[in-house]
Amino acid sequence: MSVTIKSAREIELMRAAGKILAKVHQELGHEIKPGMSTWDIDHLGEEMIRDYGCVPNFLHYQGYPASVCVSVNDEVVHGIPNKKHIIQEGDIVSLDMGLIYKGYHSDAARTHGVGEVSKEAAALMERTRQSFFEGIRFAKEGKHLYDISAAIGDYAESFGYGVVYDLVGHGIGTHLHEEPEIPNFRQRRRGIRLKSGMTLAIEPMINAGTPDVVWMDDEWTVVTADGSLSAHYENTVLITDGEPKILTLTEEEKECSSQL
Ligand code: MF3
Ligand code: CO
Repeated sequence: MSVTIKSAREIELMRAAGKILAKVHQELGHEIKPGMSTWDIDHLGEEMIRDYGCVPNFLHYQGYPASVCVSVNDEVVHGIPNKKHIIQEGDIVSLDMGLIYKGYHSDAARTHGVGEVSKEAAALMERTRQSFFEGIRFAKEGKHLYDISAAIGDYAESFGYGVVYDLVGHGIGTHLHEEPEIPNFRQRRRGIRLKSGMTLAIEPMINAGTPDVVWMDDEWTVVTADGSLSAHYENTVLITDGEPKILTLTEEEKECSSQL
């Protein structure tokens, strides 16, 4: 399979899938409170996705057992929800989820601080978010795929952070994972030329310490090798011949950016 170009009809469905996921992210983000378990978060998220008439696309994907990946503190991604894992004040909690609407997938992640978090944690979350926006300055027709990668990685590394090398973003459409793979760090080449109608899930995963990660015995949960904090920020993005369209931005995020 090669990189797919979506038709106008497909783009409408991708937009709808993204819009619903943005709503779920906004609602679920507000529900995170100390004392609840990561299982509770997954349960709520799955319910919200199904209430919108959609199907969670992570559930059973290659055997993944939940709808929401909940990754806390030094967990980078793919944290498996667990009734015994209780959220505490000061934690940073990454929620990664996606859904299928009329056959089309969306995928997005946010890292939330629970109550008051350390300055270090707040800076990591904000800069991880910003690295995505640095990257998508190059997400338009005529630019090259790895221009995005380089912009994300260079920005994150300028703070001394470790950009996770072992996991990448991806194309998305009728499948959760389509071509191309999208690394979050500088490559030797510029990669494929971007074209209108490509839909990409761009997802920097940034560690406060070294880039190295380790897989836990559950075969899913990825943690930082040095125990440092990690943050994740992901959106499904549509390439156009002008500004990229971020399909999974929440209404709250849109309000914030219009105030800048
Ligand atoms: N956003 C992640 C990805 O794109 C999560 C998918 S992992 C899953 O790879 F198995 F849980 F689906
Ligand atoms: Co993804």
